[in-house]
Amino acid sequence: MKLRLTKLAIFLAALVPLERLAWKALHDGLGANPIEVITHSTGDWTLILILTTLTITPLRRITRQYWLIGVRRMIGLFAFFYGTLHFLTYIWLDKFFDIHEMLKDIAKRPFITVGFSAFVLMIPLALTSTAWSIRRLGGKNWQRLHRLIYLTGILAVVHYSWLVKADLRKPIEYGVVLGILLAYRLGVWAWEKASERRQQQAIPSAEKLV
Ligand code: HEM
Repeated sequence: MKLRLTKLAIFLAALVPLERLAWKALHDGLGANPIEVITHSTGDWTLILILTTLTITPLRRITRQYWLIGVRRMIGLFAFFYGTLHFLTYIWLDKFFDIHEMLKDIAKRPFITVGFSAFVLMIPLALTSTAWSIRRLGGKNWQRLHRLIYLTGILAVVHYSWLVKADLRKPIEYGVVLGILLAYRLGVWAWEKASERRQQQAIPSAEKLV
């Protein structure tokens, strides 16, 4: 019951940025360059939700709130949803499906390719987010595949830092958060490897005692 209500609250909260954009669009509130406002808002929310997804595992372990795992998939899918809106804003509203224009832009602004790579890496994650896929792939393989989210996060931060012209503060802030989240995982991995090694070393000495 608690999980269901939390999921509902997250679902409604995750739609707020979209509702705000729709409200502004309907009330002439998007300013002189609406495409830029939509691109920036959807880009920001994609990145924020990627980082939120990556926060769930450490938060769950540190606070021992194990139910949190139940909301990770929804937040990840919302990241993909905003990523898709961001991508559609670019190819539809900005470039009007003009491949020629897009190719020219890609050649001129390399951050587009980096953003595109980050988005493409999210597709297999969204497609395999179901319980059926976990069973089909097996837990270990599924986990391995879903580590692609780390690369998505890195590419997303690079995309942002390459596109800003002067003020690097925001991409740096996002980069620091991502760095902490990845360092936590690296720390857990190193700690687990070390305790595995300790256990293996302990077995022969226990055998000697027999
Ligand atoms: C995981 C995927 C992606 C993430 C997380 C992401 C994130 C962002 C962020 C945070 C911004 C800046 C927002 C701001 O200034 O407040 C941005 C801007 C932008 N992104 Fe992305 N992006 C992604 C994928 C893409 C893709 C696939 C494209 C196009 C093919 C793209 C094209 C752009 C463009 C054109 C801008 C605006 C650049 C400017 O202001 O000159 N992004 N993106």
